[in-house]
Amino acid sequence: MKTIKDLGELTGKRVLVRADFNVPLDGTTITDDGRIRAALPTINALREAGAKVILMAHLGRPKGKVVPELSLAPVAKRLGELIDANVALAKDTYGEDAQAKVAAMNSGDAVMLENVRFNPEETSKDAAERSAYAKKIAQLADAFVSDGFGVVHRAQGSNCAIAEFLPSAAGLLVEKEVNALSKATQNPERPLTVVLGGSKVSDKLGVIENLLDKADRLVIGGGMVFTFLKAQGCEVGTSLLEEDMIDTVRKYIETAKNNNVEIVLPTDIVVNAAFPAADAVIAPETVSADAIPADKMGLDIGPESQKLFHDKIVDSKTVVWNGPMGVFEVAQFADGTRAVAQGLVDASKNGAFSIVGGGDSASAVRNLGFDENGFSHISTGGGASLEFLEGKELPGLKVLD
Ligand code: 3PG
Repeated sequence: MKTIKDLGELTGKRVLVRADFNVPLDGTTITDDGRIRAALPTINALREAGAKVILMAHLGRPKGKVVPELSLAPVAKRLGELIDANVALAKDTYGEDAQAKVAAMNSGDAVMLENVRFNPEETSKDAAERSAYAKKIAQLADAFVSDGFGVVHRAQGSNCAIAEFLPSAAGLLVEKEVNALSKATQNPERPLTVVLGGSKVSDKLGVIENLLDKADRLVIGGGMVFTFLKAQGCEVGTSLLEEDMIDTVRKYIETAKNNNVEIVLPTDIVVNAAFPAADAVIAPETVSADAIPADKMGLDIGPESQKLFHDKIVDSKTVVWNGPMGVFEVAQFADGTRAVAQGLVDASKNGAFSIVGGGDSASAVRNLGFDENGFSHISTGGGASLEFLEGKELPGLKVLD
């Protein structure tokens, strides 16, 4: 993969940087700025090299229309605070305002283009349409740096087609992500423990299939665990269940046995009468994983399982974790996720290499108050890190070869 160094002298050069600024918003308030902070090393390195940094990113899925609530204005403001400089936001992605703002730039300046997904061509299924559009953006710059790891699994205009028109390289974040995820999946130090959670087995099929002959141990929690429990003959009450996945899961359990991969499931579950609604009274209780009452819903792993999962994680030299263990947004159902996060921190203290896969697990770690430095790597990619772990070829990385 080409890196920023391969772009040569950058003083005075206009460099387009594709970042992933798809941050959670409450109105115009950014509730987790992790992805913006993760882009700072590249932005700062380019500014220090004297480049004019033109940032492009998406926010949400506006489907090719201008949706004012999905403007990058809050991101430009937050980035300005973080780099202590004004970050002007162009009203468009490649039109008159973008051209004027870029023309007015000095070395070391940063400008942000408006949400690339306001343009229907960005996500068009037609490659020629994506190319024609990317060519227009490319005219703003002399080089392209791909630093939005969270979108490298998408073949879109601003992260893939653009590389046809400009000298291109991976940014420092993309380099760091690829190095970390490769370290965990290619010749990892063993034991390699993979912890999977989140709501659906169907979202994790590729990862499970790819890792069933690589990992030493799969630890399963979250909503997806109920399909595993059901596949083993347990009743799961009103818990989340993917009936059509039960046979697939049975095959996984069989393959794991044949491959000597240990599958660790919870032994106890925290249940409640229903999914916790904002105004409802919550009365959680802990039951054995093989005795979930018919009218109860599993919402977290129980205390015995928390200890079990923690101990299995600590007994590892490499740990990859993707997906929360329960409904961590509600305090009564956050302990399972907290125990797993603590397991990764404790494993890291013992010298293990620990990765938090992006998306919900990364937000969980931050929202539960963990110090990010306690983990070897927190990925900024949700879907992208999953597809990497699935062993897929990612289009946004391929264009940088
Ligand atoms: C993400 O949030 O995972 C990335 O920004 C990709 O967003 P997308 O799933 O809308 O392409």
